[in-house]
Amino acid sequence: MKKIAVFASGSGSNFQAIVDAVNAGTLDAEIRLLVCDQPSAAVLQRAQQARIDRFCKSPKDFVDKTAFEKEIVQQLKSRDIEFIVLAGYMRLIGIAILKEYPESIVNIHPSLLPAFPGKDAIGQAMNAGVQVSGMTIHYVDAGMDTGPIIAQTEIQIHANDSRDDVQKRIQQAEHICYPKVLQELFTKETTNTAP
Ligand code: GRF
Repeated sequence: MKKIAVFASGSGSNFQAIVDAVNAGTLDAEIRLLVCDQPSAAVLQRAQQARIDRFCKSPKDFVDKTAFEKEIVQQLKSRDIEFIVLAGYMRLIGIAILKEYPESIVNIHPSLLPAFPGKDAIGQAMNAGVQVSGMTIHYVDAGMDTGPIIAQTEIQIHANDSRDDVQKRIQQAEHICYPKVLQELFTKETTNTAP
């Protein structure tokens, strides 16, 4: 059973999808910690309801980003966390976390990367007038949404779609794909290390 931490800053609908998959027995993972940087984020209530430990601090509470990340690493190590799942975490992961979790951090992004990295990917796609966008699950490296791609799902953007319509369609895809892809990653890792 993979011991994981989820990092999130917002509503936490992807966090919820992962919790639900664990509870349904379709994702072999134990969510040992939620890391959040926004004290008012709705995801904190979701974690409380699911009885999952929360660590919620802002980098402003620390001298610098490295000190902030070292504290997070300590929180992770004290719970034997093996794998980090970013689900709407609005910060770039820095070297202090990356070096402790090589190839063990994944992210979900609401566009077909490498198109539209960074903030407001849905707005960027709509402004560009594309008819197809989607979501990407990828490994995290030091760049902004630049790590190796693991999975992508396309969704159509219709002429009279609002931003909300597109976001809803992308999130529906995310909630189905993220738990499935995590399960595949964790099962593959187990198979690969078997004698
Ligand atoms: C998701 O759309 C994800 O792609 C992006 O942030 C959003 C988080 O939504 N990285 P939620 O907090 O999981 O509802």
